[in-house]
Order: sequence, then structure tokens, then C-alpha cells
Amino acid sequence: MFSYEKEKLSEDIVSIVNKYGKNRTSLLPILQSVQEKHHFISETAIQEIADLLGIHPVEVYGVATFYSFLNPDQKAVFKIRLCQTISCEMQGKEKIKNVLENELGIKFGETTKDNRFSLEFVNCLGMCDQGPALLVNQKVYTKVTPEKVKEIIDECKSQFSSHFLSKEE
Ligand code: FES
Repeated sequence: MFSYEKEKLSEDIVSIVNKYGKNRTSLLPILQSVQEKHHFISETAIQEIADLLGIHPVEVYGVATFYSFLNPDQKAVFKIRLCQTISCEMQGKEKIKNVLENELGIKFGETTKDNRFSLEFVNCLGMCDQGPALLVNQKVYTKVTPEKVKEIIDECKSQFSSHFLSKEE
């Protein structure tokens, strides 16, 4: 994690903890807010929250993993999951896979060195008539074309810049 990201994360955690209060019962809304703002709960975030609440990091980790949507093990800021099930397979999933790998310079199952993107396959997302379908974190994209892949990646990059780099300006 870059130092400006760490600084921004610390600042956000302090203000989130102040908002919800420094007690155990606030742990879940605190984790949800951090997840919402930073897209995942990193080890650094777990440690900082534990310090601020005066509880053991294992307790914070336990709550984060119990609520699987909090994704504490997710390293990438943008976790891209492409549907590999039959309908999407027949609607051009392979082409989308190749464009994603080329654009990001990684293979499926990998994470970019800067931890911004990861690629993985998932099974049916329930959008079979609108394939190929993919998820970026919790957001669903349907009828994805190679051009749309580039737009999605650009959109993520600009979100990342405005989120993390605005303080640098
Ligand atoms: S097969 Fe891809 S969404 Fe159902």
C-alpha cells in the first residue's frame, strides 16, 4: 500500500470510528463503512480499527470474515469476476477473458502488482440472457463487449484516482 493510501485509510477510519463510537457494538457498521469507502478490509484497516476500539485484531477479523460481504482477504481494490458458466461461455466469455488479461497484463487468478485489479472466474450470476456477464466488486455488468471492458477498466482507474490521489493535488 502506498503511503498516501495508508494516510487516507487512517484518516477515514478515525472519522468513521468517531461517527459510530468507540465500542464493540459499532464494529459492524464501522467495517461496512470502511468496505464501502475502500472496497475491501485490509490487514492495516483491521489493525487500526482494533487499536481505536481497544480490542484484539482477531476479534475484528472474526467479524469481518463472518460477514462474507466484507471480504477481508480481498487484496485488489477492484475484484473483477467473470462468469464462466455455459450461457456466458456461448455468448463470448472467452473473448472477454482475453481482453481483460491483455488490458491488465495479468492472468485469471492473479492480482496486479499495485493491488488495483484482480481477475477470477465465477459461476452463473443470474444474468444468463444478458451474457457475457461480469462483476466488479458488487456491481454487475451485462452484455459485455471488448470495448465495454476498456470502458469499465477506465472507469475503475478514474474512480481510483479521484479516491486516492485527490489529496496529492
Ligand atoms: S451463465 Fe453467466 S450469468 Fe448465467
